[in-house]
Amino acid sequence: MSERLAGVLYSREQIAERVTTLGAELTGLYAGKPLVVICVLKGAVIFFADIVRELSAVHPELDFVRIASYGQNDRPESAISFTKDVELDLAGKHVLIVEDVVDTGHSMAFLRRQLEARGAASLRLCVLIDKGERREVPVQVDFAGFKLAEGFIVGYGLDYAERYRELPDIHLLELL
Ligand code: IMP
Ligand code: MG
Repeated sequence: MSERLAGVLYSREQIAERVTTLGAELTGLYAGKPLVVICVLKGAVIFFADIVRELSAVHPELDFVRIASYGQNDRPESAISFTKDVELDLAGKHVLIVEDVVDTGHSMAFLRRQLEARGAASLRLCVLIDKGERREVPVQVDFAGFKLAEGFIVGYGLDYAERYRELPDIHLLELL
């Protein structure tokens, strides 16, 4: 199977504008509070880098997780695990997860469940792309960059088979 880029869906300018707006909301919410911002590797890395630079008045701690899913369609939730866990102590701190896409919801349902057991003062999820129509399990999304009903997208950290993450804009991808 091959693929081709099929047009820009969100330009770098549109993304930057949303990041600025989200950053202002988040700064208002977290100013003066102990905050840990957690990047979900690898897809969120560029969004995370942009978001945390809008939080420079907050001085958050930064950490990273990686979760792997082994795509069993019959029981997807049973096949999700950490391949890299958080290293910081979350107890008593506010925690903001930054993720690229929430699709079926299984990955973020798993991550929220895991982190809820760590004694944080609050736990919120900021996602670049919320594919709400495709949800299979409910997930609370507290902040969303864009809502997308359909289509597979790449760029700005998002990949197809590990490629296209470096693109500055978000493109629709067509599978041929
Ligand atoms: P979920 O567990 O189905 O919500 O999976 C979400 C994960 O699927 C995201 O972290 C992405 O890695 C991946 N994903 C879903 N849709 C897209 C897309 O359009 N482009 C790139 N990755 C996607
Ligand atoms: Mg991902």
